[in-house]
Amino acid sequence: MSADRTPRHLFSIAELRKEEIEAILDRAALLRRDGVNGSELAGRVVGLCFFQESTRTRVGFDAAVKRLGGSTVIVTETREVRRAPSPESLEDTIRAVSGYCDMLVMRHAETPALQAAMRASVAPVLNAGSGCEHHPTQALLDLFHIKNRFGRLEGLRIGLVGDLCTSRAARSLIQTMRHWPPSELRLMAPPGREMIDEALSCVAKSAVSVYPELIAEDLDVLYVAGMPNPAREPCFSVELRKRFTVYQNTLKTLPGHGIIMCPLPRIDEIAVDVDQSPRATYFEQSDNALWARMAALLFQSDRCKQ
Ligand code: CP
Repeated sequence: MSADRTPRHLFSIAELRKEEIEAILDRAALLRRDGVNGSELAGRVVGLCFFQESTRTRVGFDAAVKRLGGSTVIVTETREVRRAPSPESLEDTIRAVSGYCDMLVMRHAETPALQAAMRASVAPVLNAGSGCEHHPTQALLDLFHIKNRFGRLEGLRIGLVGDLCTSRAARSLIQTMRHWPPSELRLMAPPGREMIDEALSCVAKSAVSVYPELIAEDLDVLYVAGMPNPAREPCFSVELRKRFTVYQNTLKTLPGHGIIMCPLPRIDEIAVDVDQSPRATYFEQSDNALWARMAALLFQSDRCKQ
């Protein structure tokens, strides 16, 4: 525990230098090739603080810590809710929990709340998703998957489809393109839900194309960023959703070497019968995320010792 000094958090993928990301990806590859010895995080306790729903990130980090020999404690609720009998701020909760842990992995629906919690923490925090803006570990596992598939990260034709203005996964992946410029970044979003201009400042304007529908031709990577849950946000007609959905027909237009990625969960953005295609790589992406999460934990652990 590092209560005696300011901990080093990982808030945004933009904080990491190119060499640091490469080191994490290389380590993930070594872990996958050679396996773990199960003592890398022996004696370490990682707090999983999830204040917004999660399956893959929460369970994936839990499994990663345990496979590395560490243990986890789970925090999913706070007394911040006003109606609680003894209200407590998120900051106070995190200050106390961080005193019991060597590292925290944290998700929150609001980025300012997560930032406040980070400031309160005496243990280093890994941002496991905040607001619509940041999902640095998702970007790491996405890069790991792309590198596994193509052997390189730069010069690819990458298409992002879905509700891009709210996709922290899409935004975080774009942030990495400052290091590995794509030959094309194709943005396909419903009207009013396009990627915000500010997020595109790290990509050459000449590489960016924008479409109000899904166009898979010539893409190396079709990244399905997701659409809002229609039960919660019934803002798109069925017809509009269909324009951004991956069907068998989409596979006919995607090049033979092109892959479909998705951070998941999926609602109906990819038809289930597409899963049988060898180009539907989202579950492989999810499986390989285990190695990337382990590498991120070890990176964070190592740099906090420096
Ligand atoms: N990709 C992702 O963040 O999934 P979860 O919301 O299930 O963690």
